[in-house]
Amino acid sequence: MASPANEGMRQAWDGLEGANWSELAEGFERASTEHRIVLLRAAALAPGEDVLDLGCGSGALTLEAGAAVAPGRVVGIDLSSAMLANGRARAVGAGRSNVSFVHADAQVYAFEPASFDVVVSNAGAMFFDDQNAAFTNLRTALKPGGRIVLLVWQVLENNEWLTELRRALAIGRDLPTPPVGTPGPFGLADPDHTRDLLARTGYGSIRIEDTRPPMRVGHDVESAYAFLSRIGNTRGLLDDLGADDRIAALNNLRSVLAEHATPQGVVLGTASWLVTATH
Ligand SMILES: C[S@@+](CC[C@H](N)C(=O)[O-])C[C@H]1O[C@@H](n2cnc3c(N)ncnc32)[C@H](O)[C@@H]1O
Repeated sequence: MASPANEGMRQAWDGLEGANWSELAEGFERASTEHRIVLLRAAALAPGEDVLDLGCGSGALTLEAGAAVAPGRVVGIDLSSAMLANGRARAVGAGRSNVSFVHADAQVYAFEPASFDVVVSNAGAMFFDDQNAAFTNLRTALKPGGRIVLLVWQVLENNEWLTELRRALAIGRDLPTPPVGTPGPFGLADPDHTRDLLARTGYGSIRIEDTRPPMRVGHDVESAYAFLSRIGNTRGLLDDLGADDRIAALNNLRSVLAEHATPQGVVLGTASWLVTATH
């Protein structure tokens, strides 16, 4: 039997990774505040438009889009039941009845054809094992003339929040660089590849812009440490260390975060591609 699409990602996001993101939802939401501002400005959502939030996670962007398009509707789609539960609870709490959530894989989900004006995604479009199938499927969900607006990570080296995390936690190890172009955070890190992908899957007016919103990881060093010491990237980097090295690595993390403390909180640099295109 053929393996189902994105099975590894489904296991991670509907398992430990999603549970971790769900627990730390507040930290992730604060850290991506400036990213959502960039994305929503580019999307220029108008009242009455219908929006799909791809890889919506705990629904921060979904709810903001819901406020922008009401009475239009926003659907968040995600693989993680834990994060979707957050999103649903927040939509109910905020009385956002034009927002709903679907637990499904956007690569294969049978969207109603031509049912959305806009697809938005903050860091949710890089995980597909068949990018051609996924972007074709998303295009069929868009109305003719509809637009897609994505933020995707640039390569690791351009993302200070990751290079600093790795500097703190390396403890003398030569850490492997994660691959570009395979399903994962850097799946769309090569802009030439993304441009070709969108062109061959039927999109036009493709623009890819360098954007570098700052990431505020905490209001002070302790809150930044409480967040970053618990994220999946940190867990992964601590995994094969002995007890003493773990303690040393976490102490390093606190010191590195102190180097980035500002009156506005602990702020680290990021680099993304802002990808826009039309159907
Ligand atoms: C890095 S998180 C970003 C979450 C959210 N957009 C945010 O900004 O906090 C990536 C999200 O994409 C979702 N995702 C990954 N592959 C997906 C797929 N094939 N279909 C739907 N969601 C997917 C994951 O479950 C996860 O919630």
